[in-house]
Amino acid sequence: MMETALPNFHFHDLHPEPEDFHSDVIAGLRQTPRQLSPKFFYDERGSQLFDAITRLPEYYPTRTEIDLLQRHGEDMADMLGNDGLLFELGSGSDTKIRVLLDALQPQTYAPIDISREPLRLSAGTIAEDHPELEVHAICTDYSKPLALPGVVAAKRRSAFFPGSSIGNFDPGQACDLLRRIANIIGPEGRLLIGVDLKKAPSRLHAAYNDSEGVTAQFNLNLLARINRELDADFDLAAFRHEAFYNAQLGRIEMHLVATAPQRVRIDGCCFEFQAGESIHTENSYKFSVEEFQALAAQAGLASLRVWQDDDALFSVHCLQPI
Ligand code: AVI
Repeated sequence: MMETALPNFHFHDLHPEPEDFHSDVIAGLRQTPRQLSPKFFYDERGSQLFDAITRLPEYYPTRTEIDLLQRHGEDMADMLGNDGLLFELGSGSDTKIRVLLDALQPQTYAPIDISREPLRLSAGTIAEDHPELEVHAICTDYSKPLALPGVVAAKRRSAFFPGSSIGNFDPGQACDLLRRIANIIGPEGRLLIGVDLKKAPSRLHAAYNDSEGVTAQFNLNLLARINRELDADFDLAAFRHEAFYNAQLGRIEMHLVATAPQRVRIDGCCFEFQAGESIHTENSYKFSVEEFQALAAQAGLASLRVWQDDDALFSVHCLQPI
């Protein structure tokens, strides 16, 4: 544990294994169909672009979820109980947790994230702004099995997993992750989780094909990152962003599609692309309330309460281990 100048701020670096960007990219591009993991979107430029996405008029999830937290924060606090320990998975932007901290007033806040410096910065700022709050930031990869520092083993634990990030996992992985969260919070714990809802495909389509082209830049930045970090020569102008709703599988799929035949070199390996060939870069699953409750039940979590906006765009679920 690293102590910092602020007496209420503690940083636990669990030294998550660095992602093997090089071997994951080569292996993903050798698969049929080709794919790249969405976890690689979030380098510095990708995180800035994602931030811009959350402010786009077409991208409703972020503002709808914040509005739900603002409107129902007190009810959520009643369900979670005050003065316990609150984990946050994948803390990213701190707007949502700030709304929740005001309503919940936990004794301890423990954000968990793999990105060391952004985590240190956002958790440190929260510790500074809330001197009454014990902040234990934990740098680790929550998508893998978790061994948490003993210092956060408080009696009553809750977790907050906003943003419908659960939708970026395939159903089996999502179920495993929910199970791991259930273990972290323990039998008395509660999980507050944001889940994007199924809706008219046209609305979903607009959210992932914004008119300013920010989502396209976010998607294409993955190739730019491969060029920057892996000594590759993708011609970004020869790929286009594609996002569509796959109704059968209940998910938005994002792809990068080659617009002309081409040969790409990545650190000495050669990849041939046909015109129209795609690289699958992300899935974003959408759920009905009942579908999400069924997934949670499979992971051993029962639904206690669900909040959703009047247009049924987004939901926040409070779950408890069964
Ligand atoms: C982070 N995640 C929940 C976003 C989503 O909506 O699936 C990522 C994203 N991809 C394109 N736009 C936003």
